[in-house]
Amino acid sequence: MRKFVEREGMTIWLTGLPSAGKSTIARRLAILLEGMGQRVIVLDGDEVRERLNKGLGFSKEDRDENVRRIAYVARLLTEAGAVVIVAAISPYRAARDAARAEIGRFAEIHVSCPIEECIRRDVKGLYKKALAGQIEHFTGVSDPYEAPLRPELVVQTEREMPQDSARGIVFFLQSLAYLPAGGTEEPAPTERLAPIPRGSEA
Ligand code: ADX
Repeated sequence: MRKFVEREGMTIWLTGLPSAGKSTIARRLAILLEGMGQRVIVLDGDEVRERLNKGLGFSKEDRDENVRRIAYVARLLTEAGAVVIVAAISPYRAARDAARAEIGRFAEIHVSCPIEECIRRDVKGLYKKALAGQIEHFTGVSDPYEAPLRPELVVQTEREMPQDSARGIVFFLQSLAYLPAGGTEEPAPTERLAPIPRGSEA
């Protein structure tokens, strides 16, 4: 019998269009999971591209390379027992499938939002530029997004708030026994510093 089942790692892979809500949900999820006593790492496309993947662009080859490197790091961290949250457009099915095969304990979550709503949100103002022809190969405008065919879960961000999507993801992963049951109340900031009692989980 395994001793630290509650710390078994996994990767939660959030894929979706720009401005669909991946980063926001990732942050919410991280807070929830930390409150449950998990070690959580967020690998966000924007940040990873500033550091680990600096220099990569947005051609298919570079996006696939971006995803390949993220998947490698996610695998190492998953094996070390962390819950890894990836928030990356990761537009190509084959690259996501390769990440799944590499990582093993993996849940693909489609952060789904109609393109019209993504354009309306335009969190970084990039849709506006892409639609004006100022950015080439912009996902959803002039570059493809291959939606998952069989994701573990789809969250519809046009219809629900990010914290509800995050809670839904946690409940769902608990129902699959990927995560231990209980404890999805968001802790107050001070409570997050206190040790989480581990005996109380089902
Ligand atoms: S991915 O396609 O390779 O998975 P990733 O999630 O890492 O993309 O990075 C996407 C971010 O890069 C977007 O949030 C946006 O800020 C920025 N970006 C710049 N150019 C593009 C583009 N042509 N298509 C999509 N995102 C772009």
